Amino acid sequence: MILAIESSCDETSAAVVSNGKLLSNIVRTQVIHSQYGGVVPELSAREHIEYIDSIVDKALSEANITINDIKAIGVTIGPGLIPALHVGVSYAKGLAWSRNLPLIPVNHLEGHIFSILLSNDVEPPVLLLLVSGGHTILIDMPAWREYKILGSTRDDACGEAFDKVAKMLNLGYPGGPHVEKLAQGGKNLNIIPVGVHDNSCDFSFSGMKSAVGRVIADYSKKEDNDNWKADVASSFMHSAIKQLTNKIGTGLEKTGYNKVAIVGGVSANKHLRTEMERLFGDYDVYFADLKYSSDNAAMIGIVADHIYRNESISEYYNYSLEPKSKLPLQSVKSE
Ligand code: KG4
Ligand code: ZN
Repeated sequence: MILAIESSCDETSAAVVSNGKLLSNIVRTQVIHSQYGGVVPELSAREHIEYIDSIVDKALSEANITINDIKAIGVTIGPGLIPALHVGVSYAKGLAWSRNLPLIPVNHLEGHIFSILLSNDVEPPVLLLLVSGGHTILIDMPAWREYKILGSTRDDACGEAFDKVAKMLNLGYPGGPHVEKLAQGGKNLNIIPVGVHDNSCDFSFSGMKSAVGRVIADYSKKEDNDNWKADVASSFMHSAIKQLTNKIGTGLEKTGYNKVAIVGGVSANKHLRTEMERLFGDYDVYFADLKYSSDNAAMIGIVADHIYRNESISEYYNYSLEPKSKLPLQSVKSE
């Protein structure tokens, strides 16, 4: 039994995983940040401190076990907000040290990748699109935990662009779900350029974001009501998703794979899901269930459990790990 803890951003989460099976997953999303239009690191840390203990207790009781049944602890070590990460890492270190348990540091990005296993039976080789608030990366994964980066964003992450567009339209944070909801009442006017029309697997969203800014300035001058906002949201969303599906097409051509998985917060987008079905019907397309597409400890537990069962665990008794705000996508070893 593995206890996993996630606190890299604004979700405090704990999960119990055993032999690849999820036994419990408790997630508390902090709402305090919505009034600031983005996550405030210190406030996030304060809330993690307040709730982490009760969330771990709930994860254990929902799995019908006690702390004595836990054989290892997995924790998100990065990338993320340092004050927030510190809470989970310190908590996990203390617990692991006091009970002499292995402490498995998990890369949050790997967590998102392994989230597909929570809802699907899938085996590599697979093309992966990791698309979240901080990252947009296209990855060739020939085997579990082997990552070849095919391309990534040259500027903003896709989720970040959704958040910024939401802010420009005076919608709440996180922006993705708000933009998607507003877009449902509008139509794509083809006014936002899709961008990056080359044969690379790179992404770029800052041009799209500036185009939205110009369109908003234009419409606010000439329109008396706000009806145009839904069309702008729809136009942006269509172009952003089109760029993602274009690059998935390029990645599938380059790798020759017949499987593609999309993970991370933006993978919750329904338009992306229907476009994938429409465009890539001949391929095996995998998404995590909606509840696992945003941050959670279940995905961290699945990675820790994989490491626990496949690697030499004697390396994981290091209780002096420090969180990392930036962490490339590669397997994280105890230092
Ligand atoms: O993976 P995640 O929960 O946290 C990070 O590790 O970044 O991703 C959060 C990002 C935010 O930028 C949010 O606006 C975006 O995912 N997002 C969406 C949707 N739901 C969340 N973007 C577009 N459409 C959605 N439905
Ligand atoms: Zn995430």
